[in-house]
Amino acid sequence: MDNNILDSILGAIPQPIIAIDASERILAVNSAAVSLVGHSAMQHSYVTILRQPALLEAIEATLKDDVPRTTKYLSTDGAQDTTYKVTCRAAPGVGKSGTKAIILFFEDISQMEEVGQMRRDFVTNVSHELRTPLTALIGFIETLRGPARDDAKAATRFLNIMQDEAERMNRLVGDLMSLNRVEGNERVRPTQRVVLNDIIQSTCHSLQPLALQAGVKFEFESPELPVEIYGDSDQLTQVFTNIIGNALKYGASGGRVTLRMTTIAREAALRAPGVRLQVIDYGAGIDPVHLPRLTERFYRVDGHRSRELGGTGLGLAIVKHIINRHRGKLNIESALGKAPPSQWCCRPSRYREF
Ligand SMILES: Nc1ncnc2c1ncn2[C@@H]1O[C@H](COP(=O)(O)OP(=O)(O)OP(=O)(O)O)[C@@H](O)[C@H]1O
Ligand SMILES: [Mg+2]
Repeated sequence: MDNNILDSILGAIPQPIIAIDASERILAVNSAAVSLVGHSAMQHSYVTILRQPALLEAIEATLKDDVPRTTKYLSTDGAQDTTYKVTCRAAPGVGKSGTKAIILFFEDISQMEEVGQMRRDFVTNVSHELRTPLTALIGFIETLRGPARDDAKAATRFLNIMQDEAERMNRLVGDLMSLNRVEGNERVRPTQRVVLNDIIQSTCHSLQPLALQAGVKFEFESPELPVEIYGDSDQLTQVFTNIIGNALKYGASGGRVTLRMTTIAREAALRAPGVRLQVIDYGAGIDPVHLPRLTERFYRVDGHRSRELGGTGLGLAIVKHIINRHRGKLNIESALGKAPPSQWCCRPSRYREF
């Protein structure tokens, strides 16, 4: 084929491609590959340009026996690492005077690697979260069978701790299943009509004993008219239980929690009428460095404190998925020690007043 045509075809391919001839020189570099190896790579020995041992070995071997090989190549432009899967194949008759060439195809697999890493991190996190209570349980069982066998007082104390730990594991498994379910139906829009005012009232009613215990008073600021949206009432109850529960767990020192609902004629983010719900506590607040990561699974500002309070670190991850399903937006604002320090706004999509 005419060299110009070949160059045009190679140039039009969006993935990086490099050709190496039998004398080990770089014969062709398409435009996508220029960002990987630079403009001046042509005619240089591939060994001085590609420099990563796994790739060099693969090229050398394919040059010898013509057997295709795949390997990985990591490229970094200073700010970002990109992982490529590279396939080396021999192409007979392409090189000078009809000798063979080795063609390298680069396929960006960074995203797949990232997903794999996320999955591994998730499994590590879950195992770690389960192992802590399990280790405690095993320890107490051993103590109860051994040194504390005849100590009724110690047995009662240990059994109480064991119950707490077992309940924590149960909550964790429940939250994981809930997260799974929510992720599964995130794209299915809710079709029930629900009245938000009622859901908030009933959530606060269920949380009243906790609020009393924490010395917190609820303040309601909501429109007179009931606000109706398309929603899933169980899931919305879960959202408010977690957000208000967090305000009670971490922001109780403020002594009050404001629940404010406002209807907005035209919400810019939704390009439609909207309703905004704010749960404001007056506690210690959250350092803004943590805000972008709060909705990640198992992310906690103070892991020890959250665990002590029975938290699994999955609450806000579940909240985010449920709000997404309702075409809403979760917005978390806070600063350390500023009043009002923590402010949570959710805007479950369209609303209808009646
Ligand atoms: N109102 C708040 N004030 C201060 N910190 C908060 C507040 N709400 C949440 N946080 C921080 O954000 C973290 C994540 O909250 P999230 O609800 O996801 O998990 P959790 O409360 O620890 O556990 P779970 O909700 O599963 O029981 C908490 O561990 C806490 O450190
Ligand atoms: Mg929580």
